Amino acid sequence: MEILITTITLATLLIVLFIFVRSSLQSLRRNIGPLLLSICSTALVILFLFFFYATPGTDIGAEQPIPFSHRVHSGVKNIQCQYCHPYVSYSRHPGLPPVEKCLHCHKYIIARHPWILKEHEYYNTRTPTPWRKANYLAEHVLFNHQRHIRKEILCKECHGAVETYDRIKGEHFYMGFCIECHQKKNANLDCWLACHS
Ligand code: HEC
Ligand code: HEC
Ligand code: HEC
Ligand code: HEC
Repeated sequence: MEILITTITLATLLIVLFIFVRSSLQSLRRNIGPLLLSICSTALVILFLFFFYATPGTDIGAEQPIPFSHRVHSGVKNIQCQYCHPYVSYSRHPGLPPVEKCLHCHKYIIARHPWILKEHEYYNTRTPTPWRKANYLAEHVLFNHQRHIRKEILCKECHGAVETYDRIKGEHFYMGFCIECHQKKNANLDCWLACHS
């Protein structure tokens, strides 16, 4: 998708450049029309790109087997994070919701939607939904949500405004990210005894 957009953009810019070069060879009087045209179209392309990348809800992460949207569920429908990630405050693994949990609602809500039919397929064949992981942390780092959530650090301090994302872009968390906040909040810096196994 992004490759396509980039190609189209580059092609447009090339055409604009072509018109520009050609028209600048012509007389100034005949020049002014195409010149304006090319300036306008360049502006349009830039504007388009700006909105494509800057509008919330278009943050593109890995494509998921079912296009589950946090924006729809957490943003529009206001379902609490911990309803779907219940272990986040007491386990190393917050857990992704099993398909049963989706079907609690989707047995009744948009039950005939093609994506919901796909959920039934996973359920009937007892296949865990093959969600693709978005966030990464080096293997040897001991991270536990529990301590952080008990200190009432909000999800969004580390994960951003998840409730505005259609797809989670995810992140590779590096040590600087951990240390910066630990310094700010006077948390354990006795590192990495605390964090490295
Ligand atoms: C209706 C269920 C549901 C709700 C509510 C929900 N999530 Fe999720 N969450 C999922 C599913 C399913 C995935 C896996 C698919 C994906 O990454 O989009 C996921 C993935 C994630 C991931 C990425 C995990 C990874 O590293 O791959 C994060 C972070 C996350 N959720 C945070 C949140 C936060 C913060 C909230 C509240 C604002 C929230 N979720 C609300 C179902 C939910
Ligand atoms: C607490 C209830 C609830 C749970 C749990 C839930 N959903 Fe939904 N879901 C909704 C509602 C409400 C809508 C909006 C339906 C509509 O558009 O009218 C929705 C919409 C959707 C849509 C269509 C979104 C769109 O873009 O139109 C998909 C796909 C979906 N959910 C997948 C899932 C998956 C996968 C899970 C489990 C990880 C899940 N849902 C869990 C309530 C729920
Ligand atoms: C202090 C930072 C921080 C806070 C606060 C935080 N997270 Fe995370 N979260 C992380 C890191 C780092 C990872 C990656 C962990 C890993 O891959 O082992 C992660 C991973 C996840 C995952 C993916 C887990 C998996 O099994 O792949 C989910 C889901 C998640 N967080 C949900 C939440 C929710 C919901 C909240 C708020 C209740 C929250 N997180 C608050 C840092 C945080
Ligand atoms: C937004 C701020 C913030 C970020 C980001 C953050 N932490 Fe923390 N962390 C804290 C605070 C505050 C505490 C202290 C909790 C307490 O006192 O119970 C803490 C506690 C801990 C502890 C327990 C330390 C002890 O006293 O035994 C570990 C381990 C830890 N964090 C690891 C990490 C790792 C690894 C990362 C990066 C992936 C990370 N933290 C990112 C704020 C943060």
